[in-house]
Amino acid sequence: MRSLERFKPLPGLRFKKGIRDLLRLDMDMAENKMTPVIETQGLTIRFGGHVAVDHVNFRIESFTLKSIIGPNGAGKTTFFNMLTGQYKPTSGKVFLKGEEITHLSPAQRTKRGMGRSFQLTNIFPFLTVLENVRLAVQSRQGFGFNFWQNYLHFSEAEDEAYIILKDVLLDEKWNATSAALTHGEKRKLEIAILLALKAEILFLDEPTAGMSQEEVPAILELLQTIRDARNRTMLLVEHKMDMVMSLSDTIMVLQEGKLIADGSPDEIYRNKAVQEAYLGGGASHE
Ligand SMILES: Nc1ncnc2c1ncn2[C@@H]1O[C@H](COP(=O)(O)OP(=O)(O)OP(=O)(O)O)[C@@H](O)[C@H]1O
Ligand SMILES: [Mg+2]
Repeated sequence: MRSLERFKPLPGLRFKKGIRDLLRLDMDMAENKMTPVIETQGLTIRFGGHVAVDHVNFRIESFTLKSIIGPNGAGKTTFFNMLTGQYKPTSGKVFLKGEEITHLSPAQRTKRGMGRSFQLTNIFPFLTVLENVRLAVQSRQGFGFNFWQNYLHFSEAEDEAYIILKDVLLDEKWNATSAALTHGEKRKLEIAILLALKAEILFLDEPTAGMSQEEVPAILELLQTIRDARNRTMLLVEHKMDMVMSLSDTIMVLQEGKLIADGSPDEIYRNKAVQEAYLGGGASHE
């Protein structure tokens, strides 16, 4: 069994890349700061006679975190599914950096940097935590044909994977079988995989669902760290209002498929329509 010694940096070879390099995205992405990265126009989907998402005009600026809130059945997940391509809208359009992507498949959207956490489906349960992240790094890099080149790719990919595990506070479990992780640790691993794939836009649908009370703060801290690095755009669906209020740059509120408010946490907190429709008039944080 390998030990942690494996991860001590060797001069000149190991750890050539720091986490800042890993989290740094291409310059063209940095130049896109404060331009809408995703925009929708009149996005609508019907299931039979039911309009689940109803003419939603939405935009999220690059490198900000936007939360989508609303009561159960408001259309949050359905809206996500149309952004990431799982559902085709009945009408309306989705744009990524000004380019219409309504017709693109989920895989094509992933290639363009839209990374969705798929509730554990992209984790290989019988591989270790490190192997799962390393595979994600390699799948991003592609494999070379030259053996020596492959070897270097492997070790570099492993180093990169380990640094990402440190970043998501999962490095102590690097050698654990993924299936043996707690629910919260699996969610961290999922986020690590999205970071390894260098997804520029992270879609997180209730990342703390099903977690024990003790596990939630670590996820909150992780999302805060990623947000503070300001090199990812994050879209979060979450029912925990404390978390939404503390993490979000902007919040949009869906009710019965309609966008009823969109603004800063403070604006949303004080919004009368939101208080009446969503918070039951009490404007409570939980
Ligand atoms: N594939 C589908 N076929 C039929 N109806 C659907 C489908 N997907 C979603 N719906 C309906 O669309 C509406 C919105 O559901 P959605 O799951 O988006 O809500 P949500 O806001 O994510 O709720 P929650 O907070 O409970 O996760 C619901 O009435 C749901 O039953
Ligand atoms: Mg949902």
